[in-house]
Amino acid sequence: MFIRSVKNFRKITTTAPDKSITHRAVMFNAAADGEATVTNALLGGDCRSTIECMRRLGASVTVEGSTVYVRGTSEFKDAELDTGNSGTTTRLLTGLLAGKGITASIDGDESLRSRPMRRVTDPLALMGADVRATDGKAPVYIRPARLRGIDYTLPVASAQLKSALLLAGLNADGVTRITEPVLSRDHTELMLKAMGADITTDGLTVSIKRGALKNIDVRVPGDISSAAFLFAAAAVTGGEVTVCDVGLNPTRTGVIEVLKVMGAGVDIKNYRHEVEPRGDVTVTADALRPFFIGAADVPSLIDELPLLAVVACFAKGDSEVHGAAELRVKESDRIKTTAETVRALGGKITELPDGFVIHGEGGLIGGKVHSHGDHRIAMSAAIGGLGSREGCEIEGADSAAVSYPSFWEDIC
Ligand code: S3P
Repeated sequence: MFIRSVKNFRKITTTAPDKSITHRAVMFNAAADGEATVTNALLGGDCRSTIECMRRLGASVTVEGSTVYVRGTSEFKDAELDTGNSGTTTRLLTGLLAGKGITASIDGDESLRSRPMRRVTDPLALMGADVRATDGKAPVYIRPARLRGIDYTLPVASAQLKSALLLAGLNADGVTRITEPVLSRDHTELMLKAMGADITTDGLTVSIKRGALKNIDVRVPGDISSAAFLFAAAAVTGGEVTVCDVGLNPTRTGVIEVLKVMGAGVDIKNYRHEVEPRGDVTVTADALRPFFIGAADVPSLIDELPLLAVVACFAKGDSEVHGAAELRVKESDRIKTTAETVRALGGKITELPDGFVIHGEGGLIGGKVHSHGDHRIAMSAAIGGLGSREGCEIEGADSAAVSYPSFWEDIC
């Protein structure tokens, strides 16, 4: 895929539906004894893995266009599950199935098999679960066990881990109480509450008790992590982009705050609540300034860090990212693959154990980049190419379909 250099990228559009919310809307409704409709669902590779897994567990899930009809069941059957490239499906399902009284295995692709699972299986074992990983990774094997609630502090701020334990807590005796070091995305808490779960949040601690879920229809907002690529396209080309109906959950909007710090204009209209906050966001470019991102900021923009590293090349001066060691265990080692991407486009970056420093020179030359099978690396490279002087060639561009199937059309 070749991305040509573009000036003043302008667009008024919507973006791909939210991946995190689609996973949860399908999975949680499939675990409840009733029917629900999920509209504007994301049907990228990862969410299709969730849909297929829920079918194998006994739910009926039908897809028509971007609408997903779910007839759920609280009585899952034994299953061998393939979660493909999706860490969210793998971790959330491990928690959900641990107390369901079934025998199941969960496995995925090569990248998935390299991602840490002990952070989920260790606390589940404390809850009494019979869940075995393979050298701390997938495949994961689950057998029936009676769960009890625990009081647990997460070693890392991770919504996948938090969600896995909350879902296990739905099938555990007593109270399951989870505390995070920094608040990660809270889509699970919001949706479980809307589905009638006995769940309460107090600062960084969330508690849940055993209980059945009631189905709810969900209209999925646009994914701010996908919209971020369009915002960035405006920022690096001196353009203007409006993305309508984007999810604006404050645990996800870090990228907007950073773009403001960089000097971009950000205007939000039609702000409204529908379980999740959403609105129309316009980003206009100006001369870009460097940024500093510390550990407390990371969870709200974890998936946007490769992109922000590329955008930082268009500012003059050093931008810094610290406290982001989690990037090393994403779909690729995103500290390494981000650094490779920036260098391949002619930028300067220093890798740190837990982040990077980007030495911005006010632009990029362009070049040839490999996605390493990682959707966010492929799309970040494309934005670098759009703003660069010579454009860029991307190998492995098809990986974008995992989270943003229409990405290549949307940036043309
Ligand atoms: C996700 C949580 C994040 C994020 C991933 C989706 C989720 O992972 O990187 O793309 O839907 O819960 P961690 O919470 O493990 O950082």
